[in-house]
Amino acid sequence: MDVSSDTEKESLGVSPAVLAKRYLVKPNPWCSKLDLEFDVYCDAANPKLISYKSITKAASEIKSVIAKTPLRKSKCCVQFNMELHYKFELFHQTGSFHERSALYSLKMLDERQRAAGVITASLGNWAQALAYYGKRLGIPVTVVLPVHTMPDITKKCEDFGAQVILRGNDFGEAKRQAFQIISNGKNCSYINGYDHPNVITGAGTIGLEILEQLPGTQVILVPVGGGGLIAGIATAVKQLRPEILIYGIQSDKCGSFYKAMENNRPINTSVNHGLAESLAIPLVGYNAFHSAHHLVDKMVLVNDDSLTRAILHLAEEEKVITEGAGAISVAALLAAPNILPELQNKTVVCVITGGNINHIILTRCLDRAKAIEGRLIKITIKLATEDSKGHAKILRIIASMSCNILQSYRESGWLIEDRFYTTYLILICETRGIQHACSVKRVLNTLFPDLCQFEEEPFNPVEACCCFPKRFP
Ligand SMILES: Cc1ncc(COP(=O)(O)O)c(C=O)c1O
Repeated sequence: MDVSSDTEKESLGVSPAVLAKRYLVKPNPWCSKLDLEFDVYCDAANPKLISYKSITKAASEIKSVIAKTPLRKSKCCVQFNMELHYKFELFHQTGSFHERSALYSLKMLDERQRAAGVITASLGNWAQALAYYGKRLGIPVTVVLPVHTMPDITKKCEDFGAQVILRGNDFGEAKRQAFQIISNGKNCSYINGYDHPNVITGAGTIGLEILEQLPGTQVILVPVGGGGLIAGIATAVKQLRPEILIYGIQSDKCGSFYKAMENNRPINTSVNHGLAESLAIPLVGYNAFHSAHHLVDKMVLVNDDSLTRAILHLAEEEKVITEGAGAISVAALLAAPNILPELQNKTVVCVITGGNINHIILTRCLDRAKAIEGRLIKITIKLATEDSKGHAKILRIIASMSCNILQSYRESGWLIEDRFYTTYLILICETRGIQHACSVKRVLNTLFPDLCQFEEEPFNPVEACCCFPKRFP
């Protein structure tokens, strides 16, 4: 079905609020439970196929407001052994690609819907984008965010004039609350941030831009949450260039699209807390899955450790700060060529989708990544309490090996019997990498046998296989 014609009649005149009320008044006799969350635009029984035509229409609708985002060549093509490019979708006003969809969806509302306003549930990025364009277009926006949402995100939405409601422990619960609000009488339209046809269509404009900016593209790596982004990009790209491979990258903390591909239908998936929080959608969109499943060539699940390394890589090498979801496509490449060997010597585009990361999480992420790479090591050295010379000697030796001491503190052992005369010197040191870390360890073990204890993990090589690709026929 061509969604463009559908959405033009957006109407259908029947907002989810009205539908929800109608359901309350006249329940189906064969339906045991009232489905308050029924969304006429995202109907499991009637999934919509997004059309290429609707994406070109969206592109012309948003182009006067949303500037083309840069597509830049990576500085590390040699390291990855590929012609690697980044499509930087984090340089929008609110820091994520969602602005395309937010603007387009709001523009497509009719007068009555604009006046009544919109409501959505979100994990943060979509809420900010919708709030921002709601303010610009004068459309009231209500966002329901899970209760543990970072205060900086909540504040941004409020600053953009949205009504912010904190409810539910996760996305699923927040969404349920949003529909509850509608059924309680708030007569506004629910816009699903990953499955409304206009949202998917808006995201598809990224695909058109990539082809225009880099016609030689052979593979596109796309972060996946609810699936709207990959559905839009794949629809646009495969229409014009079916030979281009589309890979979806998802976190192993919530592999909902991966699981949907395995089962050939959207399927509820458990969600674990992780770094790619914006991707934690337990059930992928019906329209998104319907539009994308036959166009996605491979799905890859990555873990949080690879994500931290991707964030560090992008910060150090490309000088951009990304959030977990935004960097996830790069995480998949860090294990290359062991993983995804077919990408070697290919022209690859990673879509970098968002940069909204809390500064405390960012600091922890960068430290964790350095620890994984052997660039941050923790050494505990046992000394006699009165041995200040030993203490000074150790610091001198470490410094002479060009190892940067970031933190040093002493812990006395008097809490444990027999340790009245023992002091532990704890050092956090920065090295040039795992080889350097190993030589520091070797020297200290030789000069101070049995006195030094090393946090072992950094001294083990980073696992080659930290992500799980799967090709779907
Ligand atoms: C930064 C970022 N990247 C990627 C995605 C995935 O988009 P989708 O849910 O449409 O798959 C999201 C979703 O909110 C996101 O916030």
